Amino acid sequence: MTPELQGKTVLVTGAARGIGACIATHFAEHGCHVVVSDIDFDAACIHAQRLGANATAMRMDVRDRQEVRSTLQRIVQEQGGIDVLINNAGLMTFGPCVDTSDEQWDDLIAVNLTGIFNCVQAVSPTMIDQGSGCIINLASVAAAKGGGAFGNVWYGASKAAVVALTKGLARELGAHGIRVNAIAPSVVETDMVKKFLTPDVRQRLLTRFPLGRLATVDDVANLAIFLASNLSSFVTGETIAVDGGFLKI
Ligand SMILES: NC(=O)c1ccc[n+]([C@@H]2O[C@H](COP(=O)([O-])OP(=O)(O)OC[C@H]3O[C@@H](n4cnc5c(N)ncnc54)[C@H](O)[C@@H]3O)[C@@H](O)[C@H]2O)c1
Repeated sequence: MTPELQGKTVLVTGAARGIGACIATHFAEHGCHVVVSDIDFDAACIHAQRLGANATAMRMDVRDRQEVRSTLQRIVQEQGGIDVLINNAGLMTFGPCVDTSDEQWDDLIAVNLTGIFNCVQAVSPTMIDQGSGCIINLASVAAAKGGGAFGNVWYGASKAAVVALTKGLARELGAHGIRVNAIAPSVVETDMVKKFLTPDVRQRLLTRFPLGRLATVDDVANLAIFLASNLSSFVTGETIAVDGGFLKI
């Protein structure tokens, strides 16, 4: 338990399911007020209801700058500020790079990069005024590999940009008491990848994980809690892999 997280206001993007939903659950369990935001508002409401009084659902498409700004205004009005932003919403592209369509590329960049731009631009003035804040971005081991286990080259490139912006934002915002870090999971069994995990593929993949299993959503959420807590108060600009050793072999 990290008692200092109690009462903090946390915004998680793409929090209706998968990794984002689990991160929202962990922060609610630590006594934070969690905004469960997602483009899928119905699913966000269902998850927020599960979490109880500590959670509010909000519809927010991270691609939509106006919607992101108005959501942030509402959070600051209702909660008096914002302590933690988790940039989790993301898309994956698959297959050979030449087969990726124009639409897939545009959507990938709109969610994985412009989405983070929109959220950071909207949240930073409040965090700067507060003199404190924490931003956590979801990168991927695909950044280091240039794609890989599932995601393709373009996906890897979008996540490599997340690693770069994490370092740069940490440098710029550190003087305002804002820490910025990223989490780089390997394969986590969520809707994003489940359809590709045939028994054969799973068996083949497992040989590439020294710890002998795939990641769980809790593995990722535990690191998010650490990165938002005082336990990591001197950690910023880092991208930390949650990959069971995948990048080491
Ligand atoms: N699952 C993995 O193996 C894996 C590995 C490495 C990194 N990641 C990253 O972790 C993050 C979460 O992945 P996941 O596996 O939970 O994905 P997921 O597809 O299971 O869930 C993604 C959530 O984001 C929401 N979303 C999609 N577009 C959105 C938008 N424009 N605005 C707001 N919300 C939107 C979806 O509705 C969904 O609820 C992503 O950034 C992903 O790239 C996942």
